Amino acid sequence: MDSLPDEPGRLANQILSPGEQAQWLSVRAVEKRRHEWLLGRCAAKEAVRLLLERRMGLHLSAAEIEIVPDPFGCPRAEGAWSKPELQPALSIAHSQGTAVALAAIGPGMSVGIDLESRSHRREHYESIAFRPDERGLLAGLPGDLREEWALRMWCAKEAAGKALGRGLSAGLGALHITRIDAGAGRIELELRDGALEQFPRLRDQVLTIYTAGESKFVFSAIIYQQGAVRMKPGRQEILDYLLQKLGELTADWDYPDPVRPESLLFTELGFESLDAVVLCTAIQEHYHTPMPFAELLAEIGQQQRDLSINELAGFVVAHLGGPPGAENVSRRVQ
Ligand SMILES: CC(C)(COP(=O)(O)OP(=O)(O)OC[C@H]1O[C@@H](n2cnc3c(N)ncnc32)[C@H](O)[C@@H]1OP(=O)(O)O)[C@@H](O)C(=O)NCCC(=O)NCCS
Repeated sequence: MDSLPDEPGRLANQILSPGEQAQWLSVRAVEKRRHEWLLGRCAAKEAVRLLLERRMGLHLSAAEIEIVPDPFGCPRAEGAWSKPELQPALSIAHSQGTAVALAAIGPGMSVGIDLESRSHRREHYESIAFRPDERGLLAGLPGDLREEWALRMWCAKEAAGKALGRGLSAGLGALHITRIDAGAGRIELELRDGALEQFPRLRDQVLTIYTAGESKFVFSAIIYQQGAVRMKPGRQEILDYLLQKLGELTADWDYPDPVRPESLLFTELGFESLDAVVLCTAIQEHYHTPMPFAELLAEIGQQQRDLSINELAGFVVAHLGGPPGAENVSRRVQ
């Protein structure tokens, strides 16, 4: 807001379409909110303008890009240029005189962004904002990171709510944080309760939100493509995959019985060490996730015991907590 001209009305005349100017004049809110609305429009129009220029070679002025909220308040970019196949996904956030926007284009694309000012005083919000197991994730962090990560978790919920297009309307617990990776700045979230009623197709899917911090603010952003959201597979699905894979691997081994969840890899199926390594590599590739198989194999070797397919499935479930390989879905905040 510091860089807004003294007369925001002048800026509004330059960048807003006639419809937006009417909206700007009718916004009944405190001056701070009116300015942040205008600032959000500046950021959003610039994000869409740059995106369409770089991706489509279109050269548009700010006023040609009209930001229109849908019935839920989710911003959409429209104009004479827009067509169903040229519909950028857009998200806006503002806090304490700063606005940010994120735009992306592609079939089924959704984006969400949020920022929160560190200096804005808010104490004791965790008990309402987070469920006990979410607070447990925070409690597992070193003490000096907890305040920062509480804010990032809040910010992540808002970004996810915006990407879904309904904000936090399903309730704070409905966007449920299941994992935080403080090293990578990553937060994973699943839908519960009211949010699942709104989006049943997202059951058992993990949404990854990237967060970042700089001196005054924390930020969060999510970009995902419908249909490309990576599933966190359930135990049964993993077991089915392992049985099918082992069926393939052992097809020409003259093993008399069908491979069962209780089958033991080495004594029953006749695995040799290299077969186990081949299987483990195939599993990692299938799930795009490195897992500590070397440690598992060393452990069963030391204990001189065998490994059942059931036990192997449990190991895979335990190490598929999240999708580090979800780069096809979510990208870092640029
Ligand atoms: C959408 C929401 C998360 C925004 O959070 P906020 O802290 O108030 O404000 P932010 O600065 O982060 O974001 C504001 C922007 O979100 C966007 N937004 C509003 N509703 C949205 C929706 N349903 N989907 C996506 N984006 C939305 C708007 O672009 C808005 O900016 P604008 O009004 O200047 O265009 C929040 O207002 C919300 O959840 N609304 C739903 C209603 C509700 O139940 N609120 C109670 C929550 S405790």
